[in-house]
Parts: sequence; structure tokens; C-alpha cells
Amino acid sequence: MPERKAAWVRPMFEAIAPRYDLLNFLISFGMHHGWRRRAVRETLRHEPRVVLDMGTGTGDLALALLRGGGGGPAVVGLDFAGSMLTIARRRAQAARAGERARFVMGDALHPPLADGSVDAVVSGFLLRNVDGLPEVFAAMARVLRPGGRLVILEMTPMRRRLLRPFFRLYFNRWVPMLGRVVSRHASAYTWLPQSVDEFISAEALASLIAAAGFSDVRVRRLGLGSVALHTATRA
Ligand SMILES: C[S@@+](CC[C@H](N)C(=O)[O-])C[C@H]1O[C@@H](n2cnc3c(N)ncnc32)[C@H](O)[C@@H]1O
Repeated sequence: MPERKAAWVRPMFEAIAPRYDLLNFLISFGMHHGWRRRAVRETLRHEPRVVLDMGTGTGDLALALLRGGGGGPAVVGLDFAGSMLTIARRRAQAARAGERARFVMGDALHPPLADGSVDAVVSGFLLRNVDGLPEVFAAMARVLRPGGRLVILEMTPMRRRLLRPFFRLYFNRWVPMLGRVVSRHASAYTWLPQSVDEFISAEALASLIAAAGFSDVRVRRLGLGSVALHTATRA
């Protein structure tokens, strides 16, 4: 595989965009809605006015933030795959999000936003797909105002010994087959389990977040331990 992930991750997401939401639903048995709701609750607890959703994809997390109630924040969804953003914009229009949702093309390593300009940064299932986690966290810290919140949802290597063999059978065997048939992409859903296997532990991720200038770093495990929700405060 080429050295920089972006070179093949971007065309991969461009290609699978039309089937991305359906596959999320099938693979997680619909549980991904609950995980996003948890992330949204964590984000809205601090009543942000502006939220950046990095790696917004088809805008699931961004739109869930807008549905969260109250006056609610304005949300900027950032992604480098144009076909994902096209779907996100269409969904925002259907949800009559108006000015409150803005979808922008750009790289998570260089978000086109001013220093300290957002109250919260969220990301769902982005981090396994980028090179240089310290650089991504530095970019997140740069755009957040001091005291702003970071909320990260990501798959995490399964720790539970009893569940691990069943999970591997499902995730490493069944998911690639299902993904190939439904997305008609040869490797995207082989990359999914492979990227989780290669990903660092939730504890190591928490240490990287702290090293990037965040305090109050907390981890909660969801989805039988297959998903981690990290929260932190920009110091
Ligand atoms: C697994 S999808 C997650 C989408 C969405 N956040 C969700 O929860 O469903 C990862 C998204 O991150 C985007 N992405 C990956 N690397 C990126 C980068 N370096 N800069 C911007 N977007 C990136 C991909 O295009 C894709 O839409």
C-alpha cells in the first residue's frame, strides 16, 4: 500500500459513499445511531455555539448534533471526499438545517479554520484513516478555544477475551464479504477490520490526546467494547 494513507483512503471513500450509510447500519445492526447519540450528548452538555465535525462523511454526526435540541450549535462538517460531502449536503437540505450546517472540503491535518474559532471538535471513525495522530490532535487543539471540548468516537481493538473470537469471526470474515457485495468495492471493507487491528489501544489514544494539550481526558467503551468514546477539554 502507498506510504500516505490519504492517497488511497480518499478515493476509497469517494467510491463507497452511496452505500456507506447502508453498510454502517448493516454492520453495526443499527447500534451506530446509539453511539452517535452518546457522542452528541457529550458534546451538547457544554452548550457549544460552533462545532467542527472532522471527517464528517455523509454528515451523520453533524446532523445528529443539529437534532440535539435547544437553540443548538452551528456545525461545520469537514471531509476530503467530495462524494461524501454531496450526500451530507443533500441530507442537511432535507433536514432543513439551513445556515446551521456547512460542509467544507479539506484535510483533517490542515482544517481551514482560524485558531480558537470553535467551541467543540467531534470526529466519528476518522482517526484510523489518517496518518499522524499527533498532527491531527494538534490541528484539533489549534482550532478549539481554550476550555473547548473534544469528543471522539472510534473503533478500538477488542479487549474482552471471551468475546474476541466471535467478534473476529464476524468482523474479519463476515464484514469484508458483506462489504464487498453491498459496496461493490474490492478492499474498503477489508481495510475496516485491518485498520482496527492495527490501531492503538484506547489508553494509548488517551495519552496522545493528553500530549496534544488536553486535560480531563476520559474514555468510555461502547458496543461490547468494540468502540471507544474519548472526551477531553482543551487546556
Ligand atoms: C469512516 S468515515 C466516518 C464518517 C462519519 N464521521 C461517520 O461517523 O459516519 C471516515 C471519513 O473521514 C474522511 N477522511 C479520512 N481521512 C481524512 C482526512 N485526512 N481529511 C479529511 N477527511 C478525511 C473520509 O473521507 C470519510 O468520509
